[in-house]
Amino acid sequence: MAHVITPPGWRVPERDVAPASLYHDRREFVKRLGLGALALGLSGCGDSVESPTNVPSPVLPERTGCDADPPSTPLQTICSSPNPTLYPAAPNPIAPVPYGPPTDRLEAATYNNFYEFIGNQNRVHSVWGFTGPMDVWPWTVEVAGEAEVTGRFDIADFEREFGLEERVYRLRCVEAWSIVVPWTGYPLARLVERFRPLSSARYVRFISFDRPSQAVGQRTQPWYPWPYYEALRMDEALNELAFVATGIYGEPLPKQHGAPWRLALPWKYGFKSAKSVVRIEFLRELPSGSSTFWADLWPEAYGFYSNVNPLVDHPQWSQARETPLGTTDSIPTRIFNGYGPWVERLYDPELLTRVS
Ligand code: MTE
Repeated sequence: MAHVITPPGWRVPERDVAPASLYHDRREFVKRLGLGALALGLSGCGDSVESPTNVPSPVLPERTGCDADPPSTPLQTICSSPNPTLYPAAPNPIAPVPYGPPTDRLEAATYNNFYEFIGNQNRVHSVWGFTGPMDVWPWTVEVAGEAEVTGRFDIADFEREFGLEERVYRLRCVEAWSIVVPWTGYPLARLVERFRPLSSARYVRFISFDRPSQAVGQRTQPWYPWPYYEALRMDEALNELAFVATGIYGEPLPKQHGAPWRLALPWKYGFKSAKSVVRIEFLRELPSGSSTFWADLWPEAYGFYSNVNPLVDHPQWSQARETPLGTTDSIPTRIFNGYGPWVERLYDPELLTRVS
């Protein structure tokens, strides 16, 4: 992202797109195949490390598909959830999509930024193909810092504790492409409050996995400061739009979208939405010289806040317009990605005049 220009070719090769019509109506798709999230039965083995609610784990289906290495289709990267009955989740129309039609499922699954696997912009279409070695379940998160409740937790337990809902959000990448996708998950505020942060906690930091043996990009790109890390101010994390995504298009997240959970922060550039998080830290201050992955690499281009802002250009390209994935259109980008009514009160207007 930092040192490359987005290539002009937005379209997925025809051979990958051909089956996409099948996925347009996801419920119809599931019905037609007679599968459902449970019967997709790709994986799942969430041993509980600490159960916050003592809800018994369901009997899990056999792992059958997401171990494929390399996966042979972009959706063979879906590992079935330890909570299959929670998919698909009921829609929550809390924030109607400000603009733009939904993105085709295969377009979204075949144009990904996930530098742990590949950072070469000419290969964004093939990120999914590199995710085969990644183990997804069980997945624990370590919680540390200024909070009453800390320790190691199985994230499958949180899905049962909070329940799941579906929200259709825009995602605007800093590279000037965008998608409109239905995420499944729960409000980030529920997760944050679960740990009872102390009043001294002003920031919350999210750290992605560090497994060079499973992520080829971590082996071959030593110049990046792995693991990927992001952070939010506490009031941003508690905003009603901030979302934990465990699924997309009514099914668990494919690996290339950040399985088994990631952030979805629709008013910020996509890189703020860290994928495959394994650690959460509640902090008084951000560690000096270690704010966020991209801000530390290139502060003039990627600020801590990184709210979508068409008025402030990247040093190498304009942010005024964007191309929805799957199209060759160029449409105007809106301040806060169109979500201003939900979030503008959080920010000093002066922040919007510069990279911030
Ligand atoms: N999270 C991790 N751990 N590693 C990454 O490289 N890329 C970010 C973000 N989260 C990234 C990440 C960027 S630049 C974008 S635009 C979004 O993920 C892309 O999400 P998508 O591939 O699901 O569309």
